[in-house]
Amino acid sequence: MTRPVVAFTSRYGSTRRYATALGSRLGTPAVELADLATASDADPLIVLAPVYATRILGRRRIIRAIRSAPGRAALVVVALSPADDPGRGNLAARLINASGRAVTTFHLRGDFDPARLTRLDRTLMAALRRQLRRTPDTPAARMLLPGEPLHFVDETSLDPVVAWAHRDTMVEE
Ligand SMILES: Cc1cc2nc3c(=O)[nH]c(=O)nc-3n(C[C@H](O)[C@H](O)[C@H](O)COP(=O)(O)O)c2cc1C
Repeated sequence: MTRPVVAFTSRYGSTRRYATALGSRLGTPAVELADLATASDADPLIVLAPVYATRILGRRRIIRAIRSAPGRAALVVVALSPADDPGRGNLAARLINASGRAVTTFHLRGDFDPARLTRLDRTLMAALRRQLRRTPDTPAARMLLPGEPLHFVDETSLDPVVAWAHRDTMVEE
């Protein structure tokens, strides 16, 4: 028997919040991808994961889960950049290509709190901010240079994911 499965990776909690909200809307608990033994009974499989410095967190595990899922699969990418940022599409496309499967992609925006970063992430952010100071008028610079917390989590942006999960026939998007 198959069932909807919601799995996620998250470092600071935005993606976890989306996954938990999605799970409760689909009537299934959201599970950490690291705790998902197999996705062989998942249909659909929905994996949510954030972007960290041009990588999707948990990329290898995500590919493994997608490959093992027997039915439809979706990847929900969470990041600070606007949902239509072309860089996001490229990252997701590369991961999906590597999985060798047809995967529907959704893009959501997460929160960012510079006061809560791990040491490593603070160092990465400091390097990124140094770069951004050279292009202060770009959207990324305007977002990150002030050093303020940013709040973009919006649970209503899950609506298209819920609609997709409820659809029981394959639709190319
Ligand atoms: C070190 C670091 C690197 C990041 N790199 C990117 C990035 O390249 N593009 C982007 O849009 N957001 C980037 N972000 C923002 C995260 O994707 C965003 O904060 C997201 O909500 C984190 O999800 P989580 O709370 O589930 O871990 C970065 C955040 C940190 C701390």
